Amino acid sequence: MSLAAGTMPELIQAGMGAHISCARLANATSRLGALGVVSSVGLRHIVPQQVRSGDAHTIEIAKTFPIARYVEELLSFAPGGKRHTRAIPIDVPDAVKGALAKRLSVISAYVEVMRAKRGHKGMVGINVMWKCALTVLPSIYGALLAGVDAFLCGAGVPMELPEIIKRMREGDNLDYEPLTGTSTHVHMSIAEDESAALLGSKPMPKLLPILSNFAFCKRLLDTWNKRVHGARPDAFVLENHAAGGHNAQPRNKTAFGEADDINSYFDKVLALDVPVYVAGAFEHGGSRKDLLYWQGRGAVGIQVGSRFALSQESGLRDDLKKRTIKASREGTLQVLTDARLSPTGFPFKYVPMEGTLGDQSVRDQQKRGCDLGYLLTSRKLTQADGTEREVYVCPAMPEDQYVSLGGDLAETEGRLCLCNALLATAGYNKPDRPALVTLGESGAMTKESLTARQVVEDILTPERVAENEDRLRA
Ligand SMILES: Cc1cc2nc3c(=O)[nH]c(=O)nc-3n(C[C@H](O)[C@H](O)[C@H](O)COP(=O)(O)O)c2cc1C
Repeated sequence: MSLAAGTMPELIQAGMGAHISCARLANATSRLGALGVVSSVGLRHIVPQQVRSGDAHTIEIAKTFPIARYVEELLSFAPGGKRHTRAIPIDVPDAVKGALAKRLSVISAYVEVMRAKRGHKGMVGINVMWKCALTVLPSIYGALLAGVDAFLCGAGVPMELPEIIKRMREGDNLDYEPLTGTSTHVHMSIAEDESAALLGSKPMPKLLPILSNFAFCKRLLDTWNKRVHGARPDAFVLENHAAGGHNAQPRNKTAFGEADDINSYFDKVLALDVPVYVAGAFEHGGSRKDLLYWQGRGAVGIQVGSRFALSQESGLRDDLKKRTIKASREGTLQVLTDARLSPTGFPFKYVPMEGTLGDQSVRDQQKRGCDLGYLLTSRKLTQADGTEREVYVCPAMPEDQYVSLGGDLAETEGRLCLCNALLATAGYNKPDRPALVTLGESGAMTKESLTARQVVEDILTPERVAENEDRLRA
């Protein structure tokens, strides 16, 4: 029996940003025996907004964070606090000026993971989106302080993951120029927190990179072992291009073909002797049949996204959830892939829903801008006097701003501010900001509104879920 088969659940409830996989959803699934996963995306805005609205549960959990300064800063957004009406800061290149935004990301990740872990002994993971490079280190640090059970990393190849965790647990300051695959200089000072003893007392989390081809799996295995002797993933999540959110670039750079299909690399990855989960390749929408099919081919289990995104506990806005399920029931739900839309440069799946940014006429009315900053990347700008200045850029910025910061105009074409769109989709943006629904192709098979429990029971069987629930009761 493989390591994962003995110690890991058969079902992963996927980490879907922003706040689709919220703590409520992950809490509901992990207590039933799935690996419940929260998403790191957007948490620096979401958690302070919960605090700002006076959410007692969030405030109570925030107060358990072990370093007082972080708690004071987050709670300064609460009613009556000195930052209550101020904008939530975004990261900037200057280490001192950018530190507050980083600390807010840290405690926000902590709160979200702790909230998902409350009241049961099930496993909770966090999906750290690698392309949100500036929040990678803070999200990992906050989740480690919460005693997270697993890190899942998508939208990028997390070459530094084991090294980051090792160094954080030793209390080191971190600086990567760049974080592999992101062209972004990331850095964070944690030594002054004196948190090493606390981190060292937490169990080592499982590491599950989410990848979409054999070459990256092989390269990651070699790189991890080189950077941290003996480091190996606990499992690979192999994500096919039918999955929601971002997809890997097609091999031919234009359209997905046979070479991109999971069937073309699944067996080769299996031969690497690392346990494998499958995502985004579900003929039956992410059901028991899909679990048994992939287990029959040698996988440990499956990672299911779309069905959970449409479940009652997800963070997807109720009106959007209802419209999506209705369209699916009527057989009119479409899931399209746009190669240009995402500032990351990765293809992105979306639903062309009227009145949302999936509707070209709504998209055409959008003003460009970057005020949330999750997809910023860094670059060095040579100034008139020959010295270099670090700046942050996003191709969804106004074109002239992007070009003045050294960007190539062609890069801006077709880009949309996904940060604003996805926060609106989860109900965490101003009411006039349009949403954008992302879903996997299997979403079209979800035709009724189910609870997370019904989805988990359908995949694992009610009997297995009852056993898990007894075992995982706090
Ligand atoms: C609404 C939505 C948002 C997603 N966001 C992310 C994300 O932020 N990071 C990530 O690694 N995968 C993301 N995914 C992909 C899922 O993690 C998962 O691999 C995939 O949805 C599984 O396929 P399925 O949707 O057919 O069940 C997202 C999927 C959906 C449906």
